[in-house]
Amino acid sequence: MPAWLRRKKAPAVPKAEQPQELWQDEEPSAESAEEHAGSPAQPVFDQEPAEPLLSVRGVERSFDVGAAKLRVLKGIDLDLYPRQLIMLRGRSGSGKTTLMNLMGGLDTPTKGTIHFRGRPFHDWNDDRRTEVRRRDIGFIFQAFALMPLLSAYENVELSLRMAGLPRSEWKARVTSCLELVGLGKRMHHRPFELSGGEQQRVAIAKAIAHRPSLLLADEPTAELDSQMAAQVMAVFREIVARENVTICMTTHDPTILEVADHVYEMVDGVFVANR
Ligand SMILES: Nc1ncnc2c1ncn2[C@@H]1O[C@H](COP(=O)(O)OP(=O)(O)O)[C@@H](O)[C@H]1O
Ligand SMILES: [Mg+2]
Repeated sequence: MPAWLRRKKAPAVPKAEQPQELWQDEEPSAESAEEHAGSPAQPVFDQEPAEPLLSVRGVERSFDVGAAKLRVLKGIDLDLYPRQLIMLRGRSGSGKTTLMNLMGGLDTPTKGTIHFRGRPFHDWNDDRRTEVRRRDIGFIFQAFALMPLLSAYENVELSLRMAGLPRSEWKARVTSCLELVGLGKRMHHRPFELSGGEQQRVAIAKAIAHRPSLLLADEPTAELDSQMAAQVMAVFREIVARENVTICMTTHDPTILEVADHVYEMVDGVFVANR
C-alpha cells in the first residue's frame, strides 16, 4: 500500500469549490507521498458531530425462494458518519449487495430499522425513498453504467438534469466534478475512448455531481487492474475530504482495505471482527 493512498483527515471545511487536478501524471508526486507518509489509522469521526448519517439497527432480510425462506441478513448494526470512507468486505454471497440495496433505499428490511438522516427508510414507501435517493444518495456499480453515446461531460450533465439542478449551475459543476476525478482534459471523450479506470472515474463524477451526502459503491474496483483500482481509491479519499460525502463501498480485494476509515467484515449475513 503506497503511503500516498492512505487515509487523510477531512478538513473542517470541505473545499468543494476548489477542484484540483489529481492525475497530471500517473505517478503521485514525491511531495504528496511525503505529506501522507505514516499518517496514523485514526477514525475521522472524532471531530464529527455524534449524529450518524445512516443508522442500521437489527436489520434482517429474507427472501422467499420457492416454499423456503432464505435468510440473507441476520441482524446487522452499522452507523455511517459524515465524511467517512467505509468498506464492507466479504465473500461473494455473504450479503453485501443486499445490505447496500437497503442502505440506499432500493429495498426494505424484513426486520429492523434503517434511518437515513433521521428518515425511517424501513417505514417509507418506494416513492418517498426514491425522492430522498434522487436528491441525496449516489450509486456506483461494478460496471460503469455510462451512456455510451454521450461524452464524459454529457454523462455527468445528465445526472444534474435528472436531479433537477438549475441549468445555470450545470457547466461549473460538471467541470469541477470531472476535474476532481482527474478527467479535466478528457471531458469530451466518449466512454469507448477511455480506459476502464477512466470510465469508472466518470461514473464517480456522475454519482457525486448532485452533491449527495451518501455515495454507495458496489464493488467499484472489481473490474479494474490494481493501478486503476488504486486511482479510484485515491479519488474516493479526495471526494471524502472535499465534497462532504460519506462513501460506503463493498470489496473483496484485501489490498485496498487499508484506505478505509473502517472495515466491516461480513460472513454469511452477519458482521464479524470489526476493525
Ligand atoms: N432477490 C433475491 N431473491 C433471492 N435470493 C437473493 C436475492 N437477492 C440476493 N439473494 C441471495 O442472497 C445471498 C447474498 O447475495 P448478495 O447480497 O448479492 O451477496 P454479495 O453481494 O455479498 O455477493 C445470495 O445467496 C443470493 O443468491
Ligand atoms: Mg454483491
